[in-house]
Amino acid sequence: MAGKFTSSTQAIPAVVDVPQHIAIIMDGNGRWARKRMMPRVAGHKRGVETVRAMVKACIARGVDYLTLFAFSSENWRRPAEEVSFLMNLFIGALQAEIGKLHVNGVRLKVVGDLGAFEPRLVALIREGEAKTANNSKLTLTIAANYGGRWDMLQAINQLALAHPEKAGCFGEGDLAPHLTMAYAPEPDLFIRTGGEQRISNFLLWQLAYSELYFTKTLWPDFDDAALDAAIESYRRRERRFGRTSEQLDQVAAVAPAPTIASPFTDGNA
Ligand code: IPE
Ligand code: IPE
Ligand code: MG
Repeated sequence: MAGKFTSSTQAIPAVVDVPQHIAIIMDGNGRWARKRMMPRVAGHKRGVETVRAMVKACIARGVDYLTLFAFSSENWRRPAEEVSFLMNLFIGALQAEIGKLHVNGVRLKVVGDLGAFEPRLVALIREGEAKTANNSKLTLTIAANYGGRWDMLQAINQLALAHPEKAGCFGEGDLAPHLTMAYAPEPDLFIRTGGEQRISNFLLWQLAYSELYFTKTLWPDFDDAALDAAIESYRRRERRFGRTSEQLDQVAAVAPAPTIASPFTDGNA
């Protein structure tokens, strides 16, 4: 199998107590603001604080990859003023945070169709990615103008152009390296805040065997305790990847699951 990460459909990935990759749909900003009689955009502004807190929390818990859905390919359908507020908020957050991310060892990645963004935003994104490229504490991916279908289609198109002779015989290992997040393992844990129970065109390919966690907590209210509750729920899941429970018991009897430090075993929870 090609690539440095295990594909959940081609082999059985290692299961560890702390999710290596957490992917989050940050939803509920508008409702958070409306509940306080504030304009929706005040919720987006407050949501940036949660992003900052979650980056710190993930580093503290030993998570390697945090992926946040910031703007979907369908979010252009929102009122123009809200879209433009979100773009300016993104620009402002990049300007304010890149230095701090870098100092804290965070590698920044932005995935999505950046062609639709204004050049100044694209330049900031590229600068931020270049500056933090060699950091290894946490890989923070922001999905912006991202859609799971777009991602798969751009991968298929790249592959078809690179290997027209193989058309009709493409395998998973041919396609996966062309997906925009080929640098990361598949998410172990998917979280959606805000109460909706849907994927909204997020990482359609990569969520194949992720554990799904939905919470009513609105994104601006999501905090360390809420993250720990999600991780705790994840730890209680039996990740079978198609096998039976009995098979998992046999595997555990032969080779005990690897134990790694987590906030739940060292009393820091
Ligand atoms: C998520 O919050 C942020 C973005 C989609 C950019 P929403 O803006 O969707 O908040 P609700 O769902 O309307 O409360
Ligand atoms: C999903 O939230 C996208 C992001 C969080 C960026 P939405 O609020 O746009 O999703 P739907 O429209 O309710 O499915
Ligand atoms: Mg929403």
